[in-house]
Amino acid sequence: MAIRKIVVLGEDEVLRKRARRVDVFDKRLRTLLDDMAETMYKADGVGLAAPQVGILKRVVTIDVGDGLIELVNPEILETEGAVVGTEGCLSVPGRRGTVERPERVVVAAQNRNGKEIRLEADGLLAVCLCHEIDHLDGVVYVDKMIEDVTDQTEDEEDEE
Ligand code: NI
Repeated sequence: MAIRKIVVLGEDEVLRKRARRVDVFDKRLRTLLDDMAETMYKADGVGLAAPQVGILKRVVTIDVGDGLIELVNPEILETEGAVVGTEGCLSVPGRRGTVERPERVVVAAQNRNGKEIRLEADGLLAVCLCHEIDHLDGVVYVDKMIEDVTDQTEDEEDEE
């Protein structure tokens, strides 16, 4: 496994491109997933999308404290409710802002072996899923930001 460099917004257009679906579930994909998890943990993040390490593939890793989740080709099937929360992003270091997200989501994806999986989530995991899946379409949370709260002195929020 290896730590990959996290792309910072403004320094590389890769964060603004649409990532491609994964069709081949091979060793290269497994290495990417392993590296992404290691990179996410090293950076104290709760989520990471492949474009953030310069790879335009629809691949996401998440860990909101309940263990590692690996998602390939994730898609939001259903959303319910709306909630405003504070987000940060490993690709936008030092900034935080409020964003409106669904309260609950249902996501379909594949695991590292290509097996279909389905996830129902609320709370931080729902927010994180939306945030990471946005990255796969070139969308960064600052695009949806209601208010920049970077300078407010709160506890450190989770970076995604
Ligand atoms: Ni992010």
